[in-house]
Amino acid sequence: MVIELFNGIPFGGDYCPDQWDAETWKEDIRIMKHYGVNTVTINVHSWVQTEREEGKFDFTFLGEIVGMLTENGFNIIMGTSTTAIPNWMGKKYPEMILTDINCRRHTPGTRENYCANSPMYREKIAAICNAIAEHFKDNQNIKLWHMANELGHVCYCENCAKNFRTYLKKKFGTLEALNRAWNTAMWGHVYTDWDEIDPPNALNELYGYSEGVRDISIHSLPTEAIEYLRFYSESIRECYDIESAAIRKHIPNALVTNNFQFRTLDYHRACAASDVISFDSYPKKYEKPYHSALNYDICRCLHPGKPFMIMEMTPNHASWELCATLKRPGEVTLNALKGLAHGADSSLFFQIRRSRAGFEKFHGAMIAHVGHENTRIGRELCSLGESLKKIQDHLKDTTVDAKVAVICDFESKFGVEIPCTIQKDIQYFDEVGHYYRYFNEHNIPVDAVQATADFSKYDLIVAPMFYMLSKDTGERLDAFVKNGGVFVATYYSGLADLNDEIYPGGYPGLFKEMAGIWVEETDALQTYESNSMEMADVIGGGSCACGYMCDVIHPEGASVLATYGSDFYQGTPCLTENHYGKGWTVYIGSKPEAQGVDRILDHCCALAKVQPLGSFPDGIEASMRTGKDHGLLFLFNHNSQDTAVKLPEGNWESLVGDGIQDGSITLPTKGSVVLLKK
Ligand code: GLA
Ligand code: ZN
Repeated sequence: MVIELFNGIPFGGDYCPDQWDAETWKEDIRIMKHYGVNTVTINVHSWVQTEREEGKFDFTFLGEIVGMLTENGFNIIMGTSTTAIPNWMGKKYPEMILTDINCRRHTPGTRENYCANSPMYREKIAAICNAIAEHFKDNQNIKLWHMANELGHVCYCENCAKNFRTYLKKKFGTLEALNRAWNTAMWGHVYTDWDEIDPPNALNELYGYSEGVRDISIHSLPTEAIEYLRFYSESIRECYDIESAAIRKHIPNALVTNNFQFRTLDYHRACAASDVISFDSYPKKYEKPYHSALNYDICRCLHPGKPFMIMEMTPNHASWELCATLKRPGEVTLNALKGLAHGADSSLFFQIRRSRAGFEKFHGAMIAHVGHENTRIGRELCSLGESLKKIQDHLKDTTVDAKVAVICDFESKFGVEIPCTIQKDIQYFDEVGHYYRYFNEHNIPVDAVQATADFSKYDLIVAPMFYMLSKDTGERLDAFVKNGGVFVATYYSGLADLNDEIYPGGYPGLFKEMAGIWVEETDALQTYESNSMEMADVIGGGSCACGYMCDVIHPEGASVLATYGSDFYQGTPCLTENHYGKGWTVYIGSKPEAQGVDRILDHCCALAKVQPLGSFPDGIEASMRTGKDHGLLFLFNHNSQDTAVKLPEGNWESLVGDGIQDGSITLPTKGSVVLLKK
């Protein structure tokens, strides 16, 4: 849908012309055309330009920019600018500005500092969106509306408290039900009146915790803290609805999106109203290739059926990084094509021209301070523009076809990161990534799904630290296994319901029966400690290191694939498998080192008969977009030397990259190849 809507793969990015004069704009247009840019995002932070005085909207400046882009045939992604409250407005209405978790009311200044529950903020965003849409309603080049920017800041003010109470009344009905659900009897938290409930902040519920080098805050009423983030994700969505409604009053078919990175919120809730899921992708030098792949796979699966765009990448430095490394030759292209390979339908950058001054003056841009296109990055962007043209017709109506799902669910993220757990520094996405890596490195297409996903289309489902889930999800997974699926769960899974109440009857809770085990207790290991998994012959013998958490497991029907190598639970099971219905449940009771993950998941893939896309050399990442009668195979070289790849069986045509010779293709370091399978 995106490629049709934009008449090609959207290529271009954020443009902030407020910083330059009209002569520079002309030059920008020339260079954009030279690169093959077709799409420009504007007005993300320009609220003050259009409303210098309360209620007096002036679109002279924005109109000039829209006019210029339209005359030159660019698609426009129109920002609503509501992330950047004008200073005069924030001074006049301080309640619009966010109050942080330490209960400090911020003052006007930076962006993303609004309170999503402020009635005045809601009134003002409706007014500005209404005015922009009314003014530009006849412009056909505006293809998509871009709400606010990078949702993720949470407010804890009195207006938020009021709306939180309303949300809770609607959800729980009575205080008794809430007290029961939150187990407020613990530490005498019992509420006797709704007004006693405040947002969980540093002054009421945060419990500081310090040991050695670790210094962590934990909530003393965790269910409330989890519920608050759900509530706030809904508050953000309500603002989103307010903006869309104001726009759709004038443009009934307007399509809306909002760009995000994974910060504090539940993006499954916050983005429920998006027509297009859009993500800002800034892979770091120290990250492995699977990190960005996982992010993309989460976005693609966030709301099945909705298209996915990458709204921002950097064409060079990300200047806010502690050490802002240059992108190596080929790397900008690799990042852009990799987004497409994982289901995105755009290649958009932040930003088109580098800032004159200010916070982002050294952030990468399509046009550098030198002011012309004859730069290393300029040449690479030109060639990327060409490549996109070559693949766009083939990319239409293709998708990533995965038989494997990794569950990466926001409820469990909250469940393991907010409450007091046996390890205090759990990073849920890292836990998921520890297992997801296997599929990425073995070139096995994988969906990264929410708990609400339809499980029936998969052969293999892996659920790392799937701690918090509803009974219904448990039952659907149970049915998945009974029907012949292979389900892999790890330590700290199946344990709690959505109120963070532990399922009775022993661990691993909802997975106990299908895993055929009882976990009696779970040890937590210090970072300098480890144990080992002594593997049974059925999975090849030998051993691997493990640690972090160690479940003490009693088989109740399951067979043992590995036992612990040391400690008081030496010789007891740490890896089990259970034939259940027509399928299998594999349970991983401790965190294995990477080679252990590889061996365990090799075994699970064999059980589920899951096949990789082909056999590729180490350091080559392969991804496939599949259509009805064709496919696009993307190959990326992460090695520091040229690498020759023997192509899988089939009739291949090279669209991007070197020609095919004798069924092989060679990729330079950071090289990318796109092949059409006919
Ligand atoms: C974020 C924002 C952009 C810009 C970039 C720079 O992603 O959305 O407005 O500040 O960072 O990296
Ligand atoms: Zn607030």
